[in-house]
Amino acid sequence: MEATSYLRLSFLLMAALLLLVFVRTWVRLPSLSPEDCSEFGSPCTLKQRIQLGRTGGFIEKNKPPKYQKIDHENEVVKHPLDPLTIQEIKKVREIISKSSDFNHGEFSLNSLVLEEPLKEEVLAWKAGKNFPSRKASVIAQVGGYFHKMVVDLVLGQIVTNDISHEAGYPTMTVEDMVSSVRVPLKNKEFADIVKKRGVNVSDVSCVPISLGWFGEAEEGRRLVKVQCYSMAGTVNFYMRPIEGLTVLVDMDMKKILKITNNGKDIPLPKGENTDYRLSVQKQPLLPPLNPISIEQPKGPSFKVDGHQVKWGSWEFHVKPDPRAGVIISEAKVKDPDTGKMRRVLYKGFTSELFVPYMDPSDAWYFKTYMDAGEYGFGLNTMSLEPLNDCPRNAYYMDGVFASADGTPYVRPNMICIFERYAGDISWRHTECPISGMEIREARPKVTLVVRMSASVANYDYIVDWEFQTDGLIRIKVGLSGILMVKGTKYENVDQIDSNAELHGTLLAENVIGVIHDHYVTFHLDMDIDGTENSFVQVKMAKKTVENGPTPRKSFWTGERHIAQTEKDAQIQLSLYNPSEFHMINPSKKTKIGNPVGYKVVPGGTAASLLDHNDPPQLRGAFTNNQIWVTPYNRSEQWAGGLYTYQSKGDDTLAVWSNRDRPIEKKDIVLWYTLGFHHLPCQEDYPIMPTVSASFDLKPVNFFESNPIMRTAPMTEKDLPMCSASAE
Ligand SMILES: *[C@@H]1O[C@H](CO)[C@@H](O)[C@H](O)[C@H]1NC(C)=O
Ligand SMILES: *[C@@H]1O[C@H](CO)[C@@H](O)[C@H](O)[C@H]1NC(C)=O
Repeated sequence: MEATSYLRLSFLLMAALLLLVFVRTWVRLPSLSPEDCSEFGSPCTLKQRIQLGRTGGFIEKNKPPKYQKIDHENEVVKHPLDPLTIQEIKKVREIISKSSDFNHGEFSLNSLVLEEPLKEEVLAWKAGKNFPSRKASVIAQVGGYFHKMVVDLVLGQIVTNDISHEAGYPTMTVEDMVSSVRVPLKNKEFADIVKKRGVNVSDVSCVPISLGWFGEAEEGRRLVKVQCYSMAGTVNFYMRPIEGLTVLVDMDMKKILKITNNGKDIPLPKGENTDYRLSVQKQPLLPPLNPISIEQPKGPSFKVDGHQVKWGSWEFHVKPDPRAGVIISEAKVKDPDTGKMRRVLYKGFTSELFVPYMDPSDAWYFKTYMDAGEYGFGLNTMSLEPLNDCPRNAYYMDGVFASADGTPYVRPNMICIFERYAGDISWRHTECPISGMEIREARPKVTLVVRMSASVANYDYIVDWEFQTDGLIRIKVGLSGILMVKGTKYENVDQIDSNAELHGTLLAENVIGVIHDHYVTFHLDMDIDGTENSFVQVKMAKKTVENGPTPRKSFWTGERHIAQTEKDAQIQLSLYNPSEFHMINPSKKTKIGNPVGYKVVPGGTAASLLDHNDPPQLRGAFTNNQIWVTPYNRSEQWAGGLYTYQSKGDDTLAVWSNRDRPIEKKDIVLWYTLGFHHLPCQEDYPIMPTVSASFDLKPVNFFESNPIMRTAPMTEKDLPMCSASAE
């Protein structure tokens, strides 16, 4: 993460909970119907729509119709991978509370999610059949110990219960974060320091910062470093750091262990013009763009049934998860030749993030966040804002999670699903005059997007799973939100000695945007037409021609190398030694004999520059390669280890992969890391325009031919609503 006012977060959670208890309505935003412009005579123009919008008539007339009421209290399970329902979470809580092992209720839950049935069971399941028995996977703190349990909801009992002997700890609970940032506020020494720095204690906002692991000091107890900001004069308190003030807190004892006050001569940045809310913006605003939205006169083309989504040739399951954010499961695509659904991806999700800052000084060296394992990427996924986070034609899905005491709560509108038409072309050809044929064929590109956005304190991560009709899956991460900045005495670049190491960029008076990276590692359990797959690196090798029959001297060719063991699939990308990376099913071939496959097409290719022996990189060793392939193992889901908090890096993807297990013709898992180097610039201040990168999973000899050739173009009569040009 970076950090936040978790006090506010908890209020938001409570408010959301209360809201959902009372208002359990599920609404969908409207798609335009032909009547909408009736007062102007149909079809209406964009300008008329704007006028309607401005007078409010348009908006008023289109109050969102009730789409589907998800009654979370009485939600029914429809698929073996459906997340635990409110009733199931309540039952787990009851079972644990009654268990004599747990001091009758004296526990704190770090995680309570579905214990997914065995993969064989899920693959064997068919709609209408009985579910494999519903179980919960629980990580709980009881006394000083962390237990990993499986609770069987049918048997009504705890069926396995293991005490952790790992070095690391589970994900912090929201309650851990909230209580930790309150600790300094009650302390006299802290109050005096803050006052001397010119900040009223009532204006102080603190954030809980995971401190990684650097040696014995971070072992044996759960610790957090609390750093604080002034909220005076701006909601963007991140821009007013009380620099150099770090409070080391014991998370369980709720006790201050040490206060470090190193920034006495660093002034508090003024925070002028850092409030990003529209309501406080000073004129003039930028020239406004006219309203824009997607129209689907016949409604959307996708269906959501519980957590199962069907769209075009795709079918998949979407699950909100407190740690991963979104989990996509059982993604299958229809073969246009046979009409059969074919398996592509058994499970895909954000496994871990690694966000190291590049400032080795006292108040900064430990900032090497792992947002999924330390903070909970899904726990920090907030409700999406209709029309702005997702377009008007979006469907919203809620998350149902458990709080530390086991009480269920609902995170409304956590995920949105929508069809995107961004004006792109899915394929085209126009015949040039040379041939004498007049052919103009083009098809619009419409895709389906599943989106979430995690606000891990200051930073916002937008994660999109985008499905294309041609079988491609694009996984995109966007970064926005607020920089974690450092206070400095400098007010102008002219004052900075050329030898001084800033560790960032001066963004405003007294504010440095500190250099950092973001790595987002995805777990991609590909199952290409079955579980038995192989990984093939197709190296693009340069060949030279000596004394050939033509004047050409060189060309390149694809050399296939089938990975035998894990180490063959530890891939570091290289521009001048390029390769393609195929996941194939060696026993399934196209009619003409190519093995069917999908390739991972890299993008966002930043690689960590930290020393491999630097403690943060030991913990973040899953970013040492951009691609890894491991044999499927239920226990190997989290690239930074199950117990990531203060972990030493002895349970990472790198450690597993170095076992060098066989991976040929096996059920295998592909891992891909999207990377971003961030050297901040002034435009990132005081809030960052979104920066995105993506990678693709693309069919490679999977279909017999272009699967979307037999699709129809759009015509004017398909889109009867409004003319596209303002008059
Ligand atoms: C602190 O609070 C007092 C009383 O509200 C106010 O008069 C004073 O200006 C504040 N000081 C700062 C530095 O904000
Ligand atoms: C599965 O993963 C766990 C955790 O990494 C490991 O202890 C176990 O040996 C693995 N099993 C196999 C067969 O690799």
